[in-house]
Amino acid sequence: MQPAKRAMAYNYAFPDRPPLAAHMPEGAPQWVAGTWLIGACYKNPNPLYGAYPHGYLERVHSMFPDAKQVLHVFSGGLTVFHAREAAWPNLPRDADGVRQLGDRDATLVDLKGPEDGRFPTWQGDIMDMPAEWAGRFDLILADPPYSTEDAEHYGTPMVNRGKIIARLRDVAAKGGNLVWLDQCWPMHRKNQWRTWAHIGLVRSTNHRMRLVSMFEAV
Ligand SMILES: C[S@@+](CC[C@H](N)C(=O)[O-])C[C@H]1O[C@@H](n2cnc3c(N)ncnc32)[C@H](O)[C@@H]1O
Repeated sequence: MQPAKRAMAYNYAFPDRPPLAAHMPEGAPQWVAGTWLIGACYKNPNPLYGAYPHGYLERVHSMFPDAKQVLHVFSGGLTVFHAREAAWPNLPRDADGVRQLGDRDATLVDLKGPEDGRFPTWQGDIMDMPAEWAGRFDLILADPPYSTEDAEHYGTPMVNRGKIIARLRDVAAKGGNLVWLDQCWPMHRKNQWRTWAHIGLVRSTNHRMRLVSMFEAV
């Protein structure tokens, strides 16, 4: 799916929100830009400091209806149940109410585990992800600590964005996508990742602003 089509999928799913804009220059790569204003939600089921704002995952997934193998890195308090529900809300359920995922699934990676309020399906450092995951994921979502001070809240060292983003390329399928939420556009190698979207994420007044950068695996 081309970036402009992904923007249209979002605009269709959230018709009462300001649309994403797609730039489609002839003979050049497409570009998507916009703003997501997500109000504060005090009933977010994920209580972790720095949790994804309520509704963020639904917005992202509306742009990736074709995603099959989804990897969440820095997954924090997200559960695999919520990751699946956000990614595939329209798939049928069986008689027991279990969502029929077929060949789709979500993998969650975090350094910390349930004793610290994190619920990864694979616990460990992103830099140590299993070698057999090479080329496996067609959609990766990343939400790193944004600063040394934030990392202290999680009880983890601050990450090296450049090393992480290069490591994520190893586990991405060619043509797969990375959605990186941060306070900056992370440094990356252009022969690994091509940026195709910048979306400002605003929660409400007096909250820090964030940037959603979307990349395609080259
Ligand atoms: C901003 S929080 C993510 C919050 C998550 N989006 C949520 O909705 O709960 C950052 C997470 O990154 C994890 N983390 C930090 N360094 C890591 C590393 N090197 N490998 C894996 N996870 C790491 C922390 O344990 C923390 O849970």
